[in-house]
Amino acid sequence: MQNIEDYISDNRERFLKELIELLKIPSVSADSAFSQDVLDTADAVKTALEDAGCDLAEIHDTDGYPIVYGEKIIDPDLPTVLVYGHYDVQPPDPVELWESPPFEPVIKETTLHPQGAIFARGACDDKGQMYMHVKALEFMVKTNQLPCNVKFMIEGEEEVGSNNLATYVSLNKEKLKNDIILISDTGMIANDVPSITTGLRGLSYVEVEVTGPNRDLHSGLYGGAVANPINILAKMIASLHDEDNHITIPGFYDKVEELSQEERAEMAKAPFSLENYQKALDIETVYGEKGYSTNERNSIRPTLDVNGIWGGYTGEGAKTVIASKAYAKISMRLVPHQDWQEITELFQKHFEAIAPKGVKVKVTPHHGGQGYVTPIDTVAYQAASKAYETTFGKKPIPQRSGGSIPIVSLFEKELDSKTILMGFGLDSDAIHSPNEHFGVWNYLKGIETIPYFYKYFTEMKKA
Ligand code: BES
Ligand code: MN
Ligand code: MN
Repeated sequence: MQNIEDYISDNRERFLKELIELLKIPSVSADSAFSQDVLDTADAVKTALEDAGCDLAEIHDTDGYPIVYGEKIIDPDLPTVLVYGHYDVQPPDPVELWESPPFEPVIKETTLHPQGAIFARGACDDKGQMYMHVKALEFMVKTNQLPCNVKFMIEGEEEVGSNNLATYVSLNKEKLKNDIILISDTGMIANDVPSITTGLRGLSYVEVEVTGPNRDLHSGLYGGAVANPINILAKMIASLHDEDNHITIPGFYDKVEELSQEERAEMAKAPFSLENYQKALDIETVYGEKGYSTNERNSIRPTLDVNGIWGGYTGEGAKTVIASKAYAKISMRLVPHQDWQEITELFQKHFEAIAPKGVKVKVTPHHGGQGYVTPIDTVAYQAASKAYETTFGKKPIPQRSGGSIPIVSLFEKELDSKTILMGFGLDSDAIHSPNEHFGVWNYLKGIETIPYFYKYFTEMKKA
């Protein structure tokens, strides 16, 4: 590829400044207080696509936040890459734990990012990674090196379940027609250990409500004589794992894909330091399902976790009370072949079945999606692998991730195309957490690597 490195060093400051401007808009999709900001971000992305060289850039309204679509079609006979990303971000809470305000980006050096990292909500997930694609396009267009067609589909509801994207995709199959979907919304092992994400877990997200007496009660007058919904909920949740940390929901593991010893041995070769992992999290030891390593537990095994639990009195001081209701939000990460709707039903049935007399239980499914596995014996994977090899000087390791992008399996179903996950973030970049950041080196490396994917993919596809 002609002068990509020069192009990046000539435009480094501008690339950073443009991303910083985008990060200043608080596009929190979960909180309606930010709705104008989410809409403004969509406009900013549309303008960025036009400036980068798209011939067409449009805002498509949905029942929720809009989808930004852009394209540059140079020859209908050439392959087409469809880039997906999201411009919405997670809520910044707890804001008080940020060292700098979440929507006032600053660049600071860290141990893992000696060249600096941009600290802001969305820096890595996913504005920074999405914007790499915009700048990679700019380079290819400006230097006349775009080898194939490209389409962009950037949504604003990924962090809240992509409900409207599903409808959009099924209504626009022809428009979105492509040969490969390219996404940067995952991570890699380390800056000197490039990897390509080859799996995403599925997800089932539910909310539960346990109701005891019809009103809050004095805990002295009634305590011990009626079911306390918070006590009961805690007990029910605790019973969802056995002493080996297996999930106890009947049928939960029935369809779980068991990897062969060879596949597990291959996985175990990926560099990983348990000691550093524990140190980085300030934990004495890891914890999880018996019989599996840490990397297996967080990628090829299904999980069940409480994401939030509340009820009763949580304000200052003490209040002696037995609450009428207790609640929890629970996520289950799923692996290939587990169907999220089936798992949601199994959960619901089981949770209702284990409720003791004296309380009522309500389970409300939120959202979910299937997992995804990228095959590695394809032209697209080979092209991605060669692109990393070119810019990192090392062959990337295929690695399954524990995270979820539920829409990916739907893309395969609706658009009949595979997805390549070229993520450039690190697990330690604190996505969804306070002090999220994205390495400047990673951002620029992404911009450098992406054009090679286009080049090799087009060449290999033609051959
Ligand atoms: N980009 C993440 C998913 C991700 C991150 C996958 C790192 C692999 C590695 C995405 O924005 C996300 O947060 N997804 C949610 C699911 C969604 C339905 C809210 C998740 O995984 O919790
Ligand atoms: Mn994301
Ligand atoms: Mn996310």
